[in-house]
Amino acid sequence: MKKTLAALAVALTFAAQAADIKLVVDADHPGPVIHRNIYGQFAEHLGTGIYEGMWVGPESKIPNVRGWRKDVVQALKDLRVPLVRWPGGCFADEYHWREGIGPRNQRPVKVNTTWGGVPETNAVGTHEFFDLVEQLGAEAYVNGNLGTGSAQEMAEWLEYMTAEGNSTLAQLRRKNGRDKPFRVSYFAVGNEAWGCGGNMRPEYYVDLYKQVATFLKAPEKNRPLFIASGGSDQQTHWTEALSKGIQWNFDAINHHYYTFPSGKWEGKGSAVGFGEDQWISTLANTIKVDETITKNIAILDKNDPKKHLGLYMDEWGAWYDPEPGSNPGFLVQRNTLRDALLAALHFHVFHAHADRVRMSNVAQMVNVLQAMIQTSKDKLVLTPTYYAFRMYVPFQDATSLPAKIENNPVYKVGGAEMPELSATAARGKDGKLYIGLVNANAAQAAELALQVGAAVPRSVHGQLLTAGAMDAQNELGRAAQVTPQAFEAQAKDGKMRLTLPAKSIVVVAVED
Ligand code: AHR
Repeated sequence: MKKTLAALAVALTFAAQAADIKLVVDADHPGPVIHRNIYGQFAEHLGTGIYEGMWVGPESKIPNVRGWRKDVVQALKDLRVPLVRWPGGCFADEYHWREGIGPRNQRPVKVNTTWGGVPETNAVGTHEFFDLVEQLGAEAYVNGNLGTGSAQEMAEWLEYMTAEGNSTLAQLRRKNGRDKPFRVSYFAVGNEAWGCGGNMRPEYYVDLYKQVATFLKAPEKNRPLFIASGGSDQQTHWTEALSKGIQWNFDAINHHYYTFPSGKWEGKGSAVGFGEDQWISTLANTIKVDETITKNIAILDKNDPKKHLGLYMDEWGAWYDPEPGSNPGFLVQRNTLRDALLAALHFHVFHAHADRVRMSNVAQMVNVLQAMIQTSKDKLVLTPTYYAFRMYVPFQDATSLPAKIENNPVYKVGGAEMPELSATAARGKDGKLYIGLVNANAAQAAELALQVGAAVPRSVHGQLLTAGAMDAQNELGRAAQVTPQAFEAQAKDGKMRLTLPAKSIVVVAVED
């Protein structure tokens, strides 16, 4: 009896709280466009991220188009991948493009000293990369080598990819099978110059960037946006030094933000088998990306008031302790429901800063870190993160709309806390109003009332992603535990109430 009364009291408290939570979308004051490249991907020569995971070679028994796995390419096409960054990461500063052109059997075999010490056959080079992005219908982001490269090497690579005339490099590209130039949308000068890219001071990097950028030339209609390599985590001093120091051939600064459950590089935390303490610490660390972006944008607003420069979050995602038994240099980790929520929370933050955050790249596309797809031989599995990306496709190139949650509860576990609910709204290219919602609370559902201005919508329909366990995952050879389900709700008694299950993502189109 006591128990029943206690349960009733909890239910009543929940109902009382729930009535107070409201999401108000302001459809009359549109914000900036959410650039589709916010949904970009990152593919590095790392572990089985490219070799095996995507590239199997034209001779493989695994069905492929010119060496790229058909099943993986199709799954990525379904995800509308808008942009791929390549060849690194840290690998970019050891990559020499001339070793990746010409007949594949004559390319030098190197050692991938950054990632796992395994052979790098150079089978995937410039032509293969562009074949992949063209099969995907995506844009190309090429990361130049500043660490062990030179201004000459980067300038010649850009000429090789983009030259139209009869220069020796354009002719070499043609000899290697490509007549018309490749379309290079973005070109970065080095990667993580503060670390694996050369352990530099920002001031030193600024000087090097200015030197290199002087020689980066491409035909006007194929000029990439040029990216300077910025800081990471909560840092701001790279953004300050770069935005003050560089003036020319300079369109964006990148910034890297990884989430570790423990908040520490050493002993990051496990990808599976965690408790609610690590669930909340991971998601609470994730949303701190908002602080990072806000601080860096404040610096850009001071040094670049005309808003020319973009802040590209070109590496982000969950980074856990490596999967036991795997090569630690391959950055293999499981992918769970927690990662899907982590991705959705990033999207909400990126949308909120869409005027400067015009591109981001999740780390990484296949088999590495927070991957969309995991492969084993000829099989593949779509991860919970894959489904989060797929649910948010309507936000690509949509126009952001202010969305405010009133009376958002605080979700607390032990000493950790964060807002329970997160929301984003936008007018899609199809004219529909879309809303994305996350309920971070691992234990309790939430109910919220939805209003668009003063109006109550008639209905909503879309998809819900949740699962029974916090670390539910989709594993090869087993039934998937995390896949989207249909979600809909109708207005009743003059209110539109949405019930978000515990630990869930909901993306809906709103009918007025
Ligand atoms: O994504 C893995 C690595 O993380 C990248 O190569 C590097 O840029 C970052 O430190």
